[in-house]
Order: sequence, then C-alpha cells, then structure tokens
Amino acid sequence: MKALVLAGGKGTRLRPLTHTSAKQLVPVANKPVLFYGLEAIRDAGITSVGIVVGDTGREVREAVGDGSAFGIDVTYIEQEAPLGLAHCVLIAREFLADDPFVMYLGDNFLVDGISGLVDAFRGTDCDARILLTRVSEPRFYGVAELGPDGEIVALEEKPEHPRSDLAIVGVYTFSPAIHEAVRAITPSSRGELEITDAITWLIDTGRRVQSHFVTGYWRDTGRLQDMLECNRIVLEAIETDLGGTVDGLSDVTGRVVVAPGAVVEGSVIRGPVVIGADAKISRTYIGPYTSIGERCVLEDTEVDYSIVLGDSAIRGVSGLTHSLIGRNVEVTRATGVPNTHQLMVGDHSRVQVRA
Ligand code: DAU
Repeated sequence: MKALVLAGGKGTRLRPLTHTSAKQLVPVANKPVLFYGLEAIRDAGITSVGIVVGDTGREVREAVGDGSAFGIDVTYIEQEAPLGLAHCVLIAREFLADDPFVMYLGDNFLVDGISGLVDAFRGTDCDARILLTRVSEPRFYGVAELGPDGEIVALEEKPEHPRSDLAIVGVYTFSPAIHEAVRAITPSSRGELEITDAITWLIDTGRRVQSHFVTGYWRDTGRLQDMLECNRIVLEAIETDLGGTVDGLSDVTGRVVVAPGAVVEGSVIRGPVVIGADAKISRTYIGPYTSIGERCVLEDTEVDYSIVLGDSAIRGVSGLTHSLIGRNVEVTRATGVPNTHQLMVGDHSRVQVRA
C-alpha cells in the first residue's frame, strides 16, 4: 500500500502566515503539522509516500527531505496549481501505479493516527473507505450520508444545507478504481476537481464505499482556533525535559520542555509549555498551552495559550493570549507619551489590542 500526502494548495485561512509559506509546516508543539501525518503513515506500516507540492514545494522539500528521518521513502509530485484534491490523484497516477493507497491531507491532525482506518481497509474488498466524524458545523466540510450498513450513499462538498452532521475527515483509502473516477469527473463550480465528486462517481457506478469513524481527536488546522487547540492537545501529553538551562531565580512548574541551548532566567513557566532550542526567556511569564519556537527572545513579557514561531522577539508586552505569532516577528512595548500603539502589520493580518 502507498500513501499520497497533499501539501500544496492555498492556505488562505491562515494568512498572512501562509501567504508565502506552507500551511502544512505551521508548527504544533514546535513540530510541523505535516510531520504528525508522515509519522502516522509510517506507523500504519506504509513507507512509499508521494507528496504533492505546489508554490511552497521548496520549503516542504527542505523540511521533509527524502523521508529517511521519518523511516519513509518520499517521491515529490509537482502540481502546477491547486486544481483540486482529485487533480492530485490524477497527477500522481504514475507514482501510485495499481497499488491501493491512503490519501492524507497534509494540514489534518489526528491524535490516534490512521492505523485503524488503514487496517480496516486492508481487510475488505471495498473501493474506498473514508474517515468521518460528527461536527457541529458540517457546512464547512465535505458531508456524508450513510446507508444502513455504514456504506456511504451520498456525499456533498461544503453544502449550504447539510443533510447530516457527518464531516469527511481528510484521510481516504482507495483501490485503483479511483483512477477511472478522477478521469471521469469535471471541475466543480469553484473550478476544482473534487474528490467528493470522484467518490460519488464510484458510488453511482456500483462500487462499494465504506465509512470509518475517527477515534480520538481530529482537526483540520486551517484556522487559528483549530491550530491553538491542536497545540493544546499535543502539549497535554508532553513529558518534562529540561535539556536547556533554567537559572535558580526561575520557577518552572507542570510539564515543561526546555530544548537544548535554550536559557530561562528570572522567569515563571507554568506548563504544559515547550521552549525551542536556543530560545532566550528573561523576566517573563509563560502560561499553559504555549509553544515558543527556536531562537525566540522573550523579555519582560507575559504570554499563554499561544504559538510563537522561530526567530521572533517579544519585549515588554503583557497580556498576550490566544495568539499565533509568525517567524522573525518583533513585538515590543511602545514607550513615552502619548499612550499609543505603533503597528506595522502585514496584509491579511488580524490584531486585537485592548485600547
Ligand atoms: O479537512 C477536511 C476537508 O478537507 C474535507 O471535509 C473536505 O471534503 C475536503 O474537500 C477538504 O476541504 P478543504 O477546504 O479543507 O481542503 P483544502 O483546500 O484546505 O485542501 C486540503 C489539503 O490539500 C491542504 O493541505 C492543501 C492540499 N491541496 C489542496 C488542493 C485543493 C493540494 O495539495 N492541492 C490542491 O489542489
């Protein structure tokens, strides 16, 4: 069995972070979300992995390399534009050959991995087995309708009036029959070759399409709240590891990782928290569910429930919460009078200040 991982696309919802960089590489607990997916694929016993990349392909290649760090063998497949999930299957035809495969959307996050789905698919002769979960707002997802034996009878992509609360999770298993399906469909009104249309084609031509329910936690990490929530879930399970330096004036409680080369001085850290390699934390409070990236500098600051990406500096700022701060960002206190905020904020940013 092979795997096809989708790491192209647009990433508009996490802009400006993903304006030029890959949304699949935004870190959860200081590890790119894509890496959790690659590990889940390996843990399901799959080593031959194709990764579809687009504009941000160089960055994905640099992060993942040939896959040996994950125990997998990676083939990159270039997609000239984000023309749809079924388009990804179309262009991966040569790599996939006639093997069954699992398709994994690179921005999806599943705490319990994918072995349950993959094993169940291996044990049946159906042409697709699709991961589903109940959600409160199905209109943001592909939505499935089930028959009496758990077979999928209908699918709709982001319907205005969903006919069930069963969302399609971004992991699908397919037999080679899907190749005929992706060739048979035409682009949707949003101009994409939809995988939901290809699966509907399978159903309409009498193939068996089964459902499989997610166990554990799942999120599509496309939005800020989901990203912070994934970060919280992963941090819940970390073990304390003080590989860096914590001085005697600091107070570290709960489960906290201070990576090698990081320095914590005169600060209060209340876990779960991870602090990346070579970061420097001085006279600062870091509260629960916070990930601080590599080489960040935090001074005289208070932050909790946030993700700060690498190489950023925050100085003299208190009350930071529910925030996602990109790479190489500088957040500092404005001094003097009048009491003003001075901002240089990129396109598509969102800033909330308590004035
Ligand atoms: O997350 C689950 C949802 O994923 C499902 O419920 C929907 O049925 C499914 O269509 C998909 O919806 P999204 O709107 O979230 O898909 P998105 O455009 O964000 O793309 C998902 C991943 O695939 C993302 O990592 C980018 C990548 N991608 C996407 C497209 C359209 C590609 O690599 N190439 C593409 O052409």
